[in-house]
Amino acid sequence: MKGLILSGGRGTRLRPITYTSAKQLVPVANKPILFYGIEALAESGIREIGIVVGDTKREIMDAVGDGARFGVRVAYIEQEAPLGLAHAVLVSEPYLGADPFVMYLGDNLIREKLAPLVRRFGEEKPNAQILLARVPNPQQFGVAELADGKVVRLVEKPSRPPSDLALVGVYMFDRTIFEAVKAIRPSARGELEITDAIQRLIDTGRTVRPHVIKGWWKDTGKLEDLLEANRIILDTLEPRVEGELEASEIHGKVIVEVGAKIVRSVIRGPAIIGKGAMIENAYIGPFTAVGDQVVIRGSEVEHSIILEGSSISDVGGRIESSLVGRNVVIYRSESKPKSYNLMLGDRSQIGLV
Ligand code: TTP
Repeated sequence: MKGLILSGGRGTRLRPITYTSAKQLVPVANKPILFYGIEALAESGIREIGIVVGDTKREIMDAVGDGARFGVRVAYIEQEAPLGLAHAVLVSEPYLGADPFVMYLGDNLIREKLAPLVRRFGEEKPNAQILLARVPNPQQFGVAELADGKVVRLVEKPSRPPSDLALVGVYMFDRTIFEAVKAIRPSARGELEITDAIQRLIDTGRTVRPHVIKGWWKDTGKLEDLLEANRIILDTLEPRVEGELEASEIHGKVIVEVGAKIVRSVIRGPAIIGKGAMIENAYIGPFTAVGDQVVIRGSEVEHSIILEGSSISDVGGRIESSLVGRNVVIYRSESKPKSYNLMLGDRSQIGLV
């Protein structure tokens, strides 16, 4: 069994962050999202993983390397353009060969352990096994209709959903998927859709098994979900303080990494403060991930992700539900006339009070 992680794509929903970096490398609880997927596959016993990459190939290769530190061998598969999830499967055929494989969307996080599912897939050998989750808003997902323990129909974002079972970003396939991805045509949005390929398997008499997951699952493709994933993961971490504290209070589950300094501040967990960060006269509230080398002075931050190297100084109100990219500088300007001085990338969003 091999692994296939999809880490190309456009990432339009996370602009402007994705103008300059891969969305799969945005950290959740200070660890790139992509690493959770690699670890999940490694934990399930998979040793060979192909990572599909696009424009952000260099950055992903620099972050993941040859996979040795995850105990796996990683190969990189180039997709010339983000032409759809089924297209990513198509270009991976030479790497995957005849091996069955687990396909994992590189921006997804799932709690359930994959090992039992991988084992069951290997033993029972259906042509595909798809993971499903019960959701309150199936209109916004790919939705499966089941009959007699099998998947009989998949519909993309249905206005009248046949069930509340949404497709989760983890799939298992045998080699019959290649016939299916070759037989389908691009959808109205110009992509080869994995739902069409799976429907093709069903229509040609192949067996597609459903598995309804129990724990949470998050597609971190947009800000709200990314913050929610950060919240969930921070809550599962074991607290530890390896940095320095001076005249500060720490409440609840908090990780302070080595080299970080907390001075005259209050940190209310769950929260993580990255290596070499400096927090001074500040309040860091629950569900906040502060990256390595970040400086926060005279400011309050809660329920947010602040990426490495950024600095936030003397901001009046509280920063909340925010994602701040790398090396961003936010400060209170004392210059006259009193005005906002901004230098923002395309599609930046700022909520002023
Ligand atoms: P999506 O989030 O569905 O697509 P996207 O990354 O283009 O994002 P957006 O809708 O915001 O523009 O993709 C799911 C995962 O699959 C993600 O990790 C990117 C990856 N992917 C590929 O590797 N190749 C592709 O052709 C597509 C569409 C996605």
